[in-house]
Amino acid sequence: MASYYQRHIFFCLNQRVNGESSCGDHGAKAGFDHCKARISAAGMNGPGGVRVNKAGCLDRCAGGPVAVVYPEGTWYTFVDQADIDEIVDQHLVGGQVVERLVLPDDVGR
Ligand code: FES
Repeated sequence: MASYYQRHIFFCLNQRVNGESSCGDHGAKAGFDHCKARISAAGMNGPGGVRVNKAGCLDRCAGGPVAVVYPEGTWYTFVDQADIDEIVDQHLVGGQVVERLVLPDDVGR
């Protein structure tokens, strides 16, 4: 049975107010917005396509901003819109992991 979405990307948009660092301090929302707009512009949103979702803290804050793609379970860290473009074009649409943006396994909170 095919899954409802081909791929799902979750962006941590957590914004801490206690002074500790969080993805919200490092451009997470801009990355999320850009990804959502790119997927929509490509006509890839909706069933059978790619779903772009907000998430709370994913507990890998030290690498923030972070996002994770399923079904592959690939974790990414990104800096700017060009990084998001690469994740969209190469992975979400093309199915190939963007190795240079993969979050190392040992990055946690
Ligand atoms: S604040 Fe983003 S992973 Fe924790």
